[in-house]
Amino acid sequence: TGCFTYDPGFTSTASCESQITYIDGNAGTLLYRGYPIEQLAEHGDFLESCYLLLYGELPTKAQKDDFVNRVTYHTMIHEQMSRFFTGFRRDAHPMAIMVGTVGALSAFYHDSTDISDPHQRMVASLRMIAKMPTLAAMAYKYHVGQPFVYPRNDLDYASNFLHMCFAVPCEEYKVNPVLARAMDRIFILHADHEQNASTSTVRLAGSSGANPFACIAAGIACLWGPAHGGANEAALNMLAEIGSVDNIPEYIARAKDKNDPFRLMGFGHRVYKNYDPRARIMQKTTHEVLAELGHRDDPLLEVAMELERIALSDEYFVEKKLYPNIDFYSGITLRALGFPTTMFTVLFALARTVGWIAQWKEMVEDPSQKIGRPRQLYTGAGPRDYMPINQRR
Ligand code: CMC
Repeated sequence: TGCFTYDPGFTSTASCESQITYIDGNAGTLLYRGYPIEQLAEHGDFLESCYLLLYGELPTKAQKDDFVNRVTYHTMIHEQMSRFFTGFRRDAHPMAIMVGTVGALSAFYHDSTDISDPHQRMVASLRMIAKMPTLAAMAYKYHVGQPFVYPRNDLDYASNFLHMCFAVPCEEYKVNPVLARAMDRIFILHADHEQNASTSTVRLAGSSGANPFACIAAGIACLWGPAHGGANEAALNMLAEIGSVDNIPEYIARAKDKNDPFRLMGFGHRVYKNYDPRARIMQKTTHEVLAELGHRDDPLLEVAMELERIALSDEYFVEKKLYPNIDFYSGITLRALGFPTTMFTVLFALARTVGWIAQWKEMVEDPSQKIGRPRQLYTGAGPRDYMPINQRR
């Protein structure tokens, strides 16, 4: 008993006050610190969005240069960390590697675990943003059985990441600027999304005073699930399973069938009851990448576009306000960029790290912050007496 509001899935509970990201789900609007995602993705780059999310304002040229320098300074990871990777089974899922290695950063960067020091909080933020691409690329390299590639600090953030993933010894690798721009845009689109499950997990973990690396590891664990960050992997697998436009009606019928657990992956959203603004930009990016690579007639793109067209004119999806979300098109783009599906959620985690860390900082710096401690409605047995084992039936 008790006077608690029961709100399963927190559909109508605000867990915090925040000045970082605003979503109007009915209008299909997403703003970072007041700036529309469309403008940031079109005109800015990822590190500029990182600065904006962390500090609240777009940087001047001098501030941007200084920020890029400070992030770049931290791109290396401690050499001993590479032993963590080789300790994993060869076929480990890269997300499992990420959960482990990001948590392990706490054991290498002790100075940044002092969350009472504002300077160390900022150093931890820079370290996380800088080291995530390095760790993600190492998870990829380990996954495909190739040697690790060190960061190249002369390259921009996205180009350096592509280089660490796709460069191989004894072969020249030149980053394609169109693909690097697409990668950067994917990072911008995923950078923050207010109090989603993984961000709430980071905040809850952080509310106990846990160090930022441990909190981000908790966020990565939460992101892994197919209802959240794992949806991009699930959406691509679904498009591949559908295989051809002729099979679409069968899958639409399955998605509508209450007795079939199948859902259209990359469709629907807890907050957006309109087209996800990120999905629109993602779709455009998909076309740009496929055109650049000469894959214009990718059969999965054809399936995706036809599936979207049919679903958007189907009464079930219209009535329930189910629209494509960011994950619907991102998988096709990531696959075209050369990533296996198992890496998709890792890339989401890489980009979302800045959102997690900005939200964590905001929480830690909020004087009204308390440890998160939800209550429950108890529905179990009433008080009863212990029974010795020989008397139990
Ligand atoms: N296909 C078919 N029916 C659906 C779908 C779908 N993708 N999504 C929701 N529905 C139906 C659902 O069956 C329910 O019907 P009814 O009211 O008759 O029981 C109704 O729509 C509401 O669904 P819900 O599960 O109660 O809604 P929710 O807000 O709890 O779930 C969601 C949101 C994103 C988990 C869900 O739409 C879903 O499972 N989508 C597929 C997975 C996906 O694409 N996830 C990525 C989300 S965006 C990226 C991110 O934030 O991580």
